Amino acid sequence: MNSTEAAHHLRVVDSRTEKPYLIPIHDNYVHAKDLGAITISSPGDDGIPQKLTILDNGFENTACMESAITHIDGYRGTVHYRGMAIEDLFRDNDFEDVLHLLVWGNLPTASQKKATRASINSALVPPKNVINTIAAFPRDAETYPMVIAGLSAFIASDKAARDSRQSQKPTYRNDLNKADQAILRTIAYYATTIALIHCHKRNKPFTKPDPKGSLVGNLLLMMGILDPATGKGPDPELVACLEKLWILYADHEMTNSTAGMLHAASTLTDPTSAIMAGLVCGFGPLHGGAIDLAYKALGEIKDPKYVPGFIEVVKQKKMRLFGYGHRIYKTRDPRLALIEELIEKSKDKVADNPLLKVALAIDRVANQDEYFVSRNLKANADLLGCFFYSALGFERDMIIAIICLSRLPGGLAHWRETLEKPIKLWRPRQIYSGPKPADQTIQPRRQTTESLSSSDMKTEKEEVVHVQQTENVADRGRGARKQKHTKLPFKLRLYFWAKSCFSGA
Ligand SMILES: CC(C)(COP(=O)(O)OP(=O)(O)OC[C@H]1O[C@@H](n2cnc3c(N)ncnc32)[C@H](O)[C@@H]1OP(=O)(O)O)[C@@H](O)C(=O)NCCC(=O)NCCS
Repeated sequence: MNSTEAAHHLRVVDSRTEKPYLIPIHDNYVHAKDLGAITISSPGDDGIPQKLTILDNGFENTACMESAITHIDGYRGTVHYRGMAIEDLFRDNDFEDVLHLLVWGNLPTASQKKATRASINSALVPPKNVINTIAAFPRDAETYPMVIAGLSAFIASDKAARDSRQSQKPTYRNDLNKADQAILRTIAYYATTIALIHCHKRNKPFTKPDPKGSLVGNLLLMMGILDPATGKGPDPELVACLEKLWILYADHEMTNSTAGMLHAASTLTDPTSAIMAGLVCGFGPLHGGAIDLAYKALGEIKDPKYVPGFIEVVKQKKMRLFGYGHRIYKTRDPRLALIEELIEKSKDKVADNPLLKVALAIDRVANQDEYFVSRNLKANADLLGCFFYSALGFERDMIIAIICLSRLPGGLAHWRETLEKPIKLWRPRQIYSGPKPADQTIQPRRQTTESLSSSDMKTEKEEVVHVQQTENVADRGRGARKQKHTKLPFKLRLYFWAKSCFSGA
């Protein structure tokens, strides 16, 4: 059944008007637009209908897209990419397979995989302006602003991206091949940017990528993280581990940052710019920034024996327990078991890492504790995922940046998906709760009361009357303007309507 046919409806009666409505239910959702059919006349008697609006500050129960990419069942604890269980992909595939699956909907053939890799690798080498931009930062600067600056420098010299922003016609919608190349360049730009940042912060030379290497291998190579046994090329064991770990982070359906990215993309900007908007969402402590706070908190715990005391502090609501709780999962995050498998495989290298030890102890204690059990707060993948990175030898300032690279296929798959849907600028509404224009008209009177004689001063009651009268006059004015417009020829009315749409955007 397509979204226009509905077998079921909501039967709604608006108690303000006693009018009944039938709102179509499609696959357990209703269109906000359909609720807009419920109207009431605005205060006053001009009869302008006011649509019923949904207020959902925080998007707690509002979907902004229909998507065929990732499905999370938060109650059963499952994740599927394009209908394939994450556990199967983890077992049988590598990150580049999953990149292809997410963006283009199928696992790649050998030649598709080769072509994808070649396109990414051809865009990895940074132009001089990008190198100079990163080099201009102090070595102890925060990673995030450096990432945004590096990507900005990349798109400043990307002709296709610039042309797309200066064209009347939607570049990528009209040419999916161009979109696909832009997707692969965006991934390359990001990988190179974070490698340059890593090297600059540590005053290390940047190593050129291997034209035949995988994305994971090339990132490590460019960062100068080499095989300790040979000192040449990336460590094959580390590459194999990240190829699997990155699959688990490759997409997570509509997150805060994916929505931020799509919001920017709805203006028809290029994908690298849209990715920057998504990355900025990661700054804050309730999203990517939570990881930084977690490092601080777990670093202070130092030893698993202090974990029960730390959990008591959390239960007193003095702080939140990082890695616990999730908007969508009401059971254990299914990616955790797969991370545990990876930890087990590399236990010789990682078992002694103090942060990982503390994270594992937190999970043991919180998982049994009444506070977390009664609120359905379960561990999420970040609890172990981030500290596993530390245990693998990555330094804190680069971990979120690397996790974001592993998420790019998901974000860009969502972007590509929008290209095949009708153009729709994302422009949410607000519910205005400030003073009404009529209130403002009485404001100056109040300010000048001191200078007025007592006979000039109005009582509270009189002011109220004044407000009502002003409202009515203002409303009548609006009604008159509306009437005037409806008398105009159709073309002119269309012009005014379009003008009002754009000035409101
Ligand atoms: C992810 C998160 C923002 C989801 O929050 P949410 O779905 O809006 O849940 P709420 O804020 O409504 O919390 C519900 C209850 O659980 C508590 N709670 C939620 N997460 C908690 C946590 N991590 N530690 C302690 N208490 C927590 C709240 O205090 C609240 O308790 P109350 O009912 O007594 O008031 C939240 O769980 C959190 O902050 N987690 C820690 C940060 C983290 O791991 N982020 C990465 C996740 S991708």
